[in-house]
Amino acid sequence: MAKEKIILTGDRPTGRLHIGHYVGSLRRRVELQNSGLYDKTFIFIADAQALTDNMDNPEKVRQNVIEVALDYLACGLDPTKSTIFIQSQIPELCELSFYYMDLVTVSRLQRNPTVKTEIQMRNFETSIPVGFFTYPISQAADITAFKATTVPVGEDQEPMIEQAREIVRRFNHIYGETLVEPEILLPDNAACLRLPGTDGKAKMSKSLGNCIYLSDSADEVTKKIKSMYTDPNHIRVEDPGQIEGNTVFTYLDAFCRPEHFDRYWNDYANLAELKAHYQRGGLGDMKVKKFLTAIMQEELEPIRTRRKEFEQDIPAIYDMLKKGCEVAREQAAQTLDEVRRAMKINYFDDAELIAEQARKFKAE
Ligand code: TRP
Repeated sequence: MAKEKIILTGDRPTGRLHIGHYVGSLRRRVELQNSGLYDKTFIFIADAQALTDNMDNPEKVRQNVIEVALDYLACGLDPTKSTIFIQSQIPELCELSFYYMDLVTVSRLQRNPTVKTEIQMRNFETSIPVGFFTYPISQAADITAFKATTVPVGEDQEPMIEQAREIVRRFNHIYGETLVEPEILLPDNAACLRLPGTDGKAKMSKSLGNCIYLSDSADEVTKKIKSMYTDPNHIRVEDPGQIEGNTVFTYLDAFCRPEHFDRYWNDYANLAELKAHYQRGGLGDMKVKKFLTAIMQEELEPIRTRRKEFEQDIPAIYDMLKKGCEVAREQAAQTLDEVRRAMKINYFDDAELIAEQARKFKAE
């Protein structure tokens, strides 16, 4: 049988999801889920990973599990097509991480760029919790327990996938071909790789207050776009404007499609024409922001409406998650059987091994 094509990805439940998550990964996941090109899709809420740096705030993690689940469903992730589950409910992931810890050195973890920057950002230095320090290992377990071939994530996750691939290669080299090496799937549009915050800062982040959330009301979205960072030197309408680093145009790169001009602004045929006019001068920020607002509302409105519907039946969401956990656990358990066999720690299910040892001791 040809190798199955399996998608896996997840998010930390530390807040509601925003449009950076959406263009960076969520939108793509829904397309992949519906493409029919994959045999299985696993999407999970990484609550155990969220606890590695929120260990003192379990309530926050718990509240956000349901927020993220609602955002998933609102975006079109469909539990009849994708297995949606919660990381902590799959104990096999802990077991797998424990074995992987033998295959990774402290210096390799210290060199992981994501861990490195997060340590700096959080002022952790050596007071870093071991669980946080080793989360790339646990993330490798998340991916490989489901034999994922394709991991759609943002650019920031690249070092994690690379580390997972190394672990797979080392495991297979020592214990024999068992695990599947995953591949990262990055957004194909540069603006989507890392959508800036509404203030123009490099990244959308809750702590900077520069996010547009999928669950924001239409009014909130309009307000946030109105106050969005543009070109600070573009003061009068007739001034030439800069596109580079201009958040409104970065968002247009991420969201605008040719048909939007037919619908909302037929003065231009496409984004290139609009940009050229802005650069030439004679085009005010407010007009461009209005156009962006129309596009964003069109994209976000159905998500908002679906979210509201799903919010009406929270117990059903938990039910869906529970079923997802059961399916996910079955898959992980199967991989763990293979892992234990490869590592020669499957003492009780290998009659041949026992018989062989019995013969050996008799012969002595
Ligand atoms: N680290 C990811 C994030 O911060 C979440 C995550 C955990 C993940 N395990 C994963 C993503 C496995 C992809 C595959 O968003």
